[in-house]
Amino acid sequence: MSTTFHVRAGGTLQGTLRVPGDKSISHRSIMLGALADGVTEVSGFLEGEDALATMRAFRAMGVRIDGPDQGRVTVHGVGLHGLRAPAGMIDCGNSGTTMRLLTGLLAGQGFAVTLDGDSSLRKRPMERVAKPLRTMGAVIETGEQGRPPVRIQPPAGPLQAIHYDLPVASAQVKSAVLLAGLFAEGVTSTTEPEPTRDHSERMLQAFGVTVERNGATASIRGGQALKATTIQVPGDISSAAFFLVAGSIARQAELLLLDVGMNPTRTGVVEILRLMGADITVEDARLAGGEPIANLRVRSAPLHGIEVPPHLVPLAIDEFPVLFVAAANAAGRTVVTGAAELRVKESDRIQVMADGLQALGIAATPTPDGMVIDGGQPYHGGSIDSHGDHRIAMAFAVSALRATGDLDIRDCDNVATSFPDFVALAAAAGLGIVAR
Ligand code: S3P
Repeated sequence: MSTTFHVRAGGTLQGTLRVPGDKSISHRSIMLGALADGVTEVSGFLEGEDALATMRAFRAMGVRIDGPDQGRVTVHGVGLHGLRAPAGMIDCGNSGTTMRLLTGLLAGQGFAVTLDGDSSLRKRPMERVAKPLRTMGAVIETGEQGRPPVRIQPPAGPLQAIHYDLPVASAQVKSAVLLAGLFAEGVTSTTEPEPTRDHSERMLQAFGVTVERNGATASIRGGQALKATTIQVPGDISSAAFFLVAGSIARQAELLLLDVGMNPTRTGVVEILRLMGADITVEDARLAGGEPIANLRVRSAPLHGIEVPPHLVPLAIDEFPVLFVAAANAAGRTVVTGAAELRVKESDRIQVMADGLQALGIAATPTPDGMVIDGGQPYHGGSIDSHGDHRIAMAFAVSALRATGDLDIRDCDNVATSFPDFVALAAAAGLGIVAR
């Protein structure tokens, strides 16, 4: 039986919390550490199922990885050409990042490998990475309708560099092409239609690889060796987002969130919430391991509806489930457009959120690329199906703070993919949540 969250209606939140490590950076610390020469030391690693799936994948390809032990991981790099064929299929679990970045990283290897995943991942589009990689000479087959499993064969000759204009704003597609570019002859480049998270570019540079960045274009010359380094993983702003909204909508709340990653390609949620009237202050902004971090203080504030500026959408793409909850508690109308990508995440986040909000009596209307929410009206409790999507489960847990009745949220096991301690941390801050 999978986990159900029971969440008491109302209450307030107080305290100082540290959210778990950034998921995107945790994945990349293993991937790049494995390809490096030397030993990479990681601290603050996210011990969530997604990042652990990446760790298991590299162990299966012959990489010695010690840990995780309280966020500490040691990766014994095997060098650019040191990976070995795994004994069987690689299970990416629920993790799209594992599957898409590995498809790029493995496209130029001298061995065959198959990547598969759970029932959610098996519904997600993989041709978006396979297609550009084939133009580099990669031999990749996807399953029915371009979905997993992804079967990669060794290419006939070395991969060839390409320039790729991304049709969608996707950091995973950009990263897959650039990682394949490490193994290609020539200079591989990508141009993105809107800025997306740039952790791959930053971290490759931290490993001593030259990545040229010119506006929306990033380029990498193949064959560059990676040198082991030390990585401090900041707190995940995507996990902090649940508390930013919770602290905004709960009455008389004040929360201090420590050491949150503030990479400008990730801070869309703070900008959107501030446009809605949120009281969020950035304190002690500093650099840690090449990434900007800060403490975020959030206090309750009356929110109002807005039209979310489309350029902020890719900078807050994982935060929309909880931003829809903010909108449900904001006076007036909130309109989200340009967010069709939400339909191909761990669930169809437009439909699943609209269904759940409507079940609570909230006026939420899904559109092909977003949602219209008329917020600020009382809503009741009820029973919600998270569809096994971690961020949907946590978003509805937050919504209970202003519901007039308790919530039951079903199918919450996957919260462990990105935020294993969510229930304990939220309960310590004052949310009336138990998992059963
Ligand atoms: C990620 C990129 C985003 C995001 C995902 C993590 C990454 O996906 O939704 O959670 O680490 O590169 P897309 O690139 O598909 O938008």
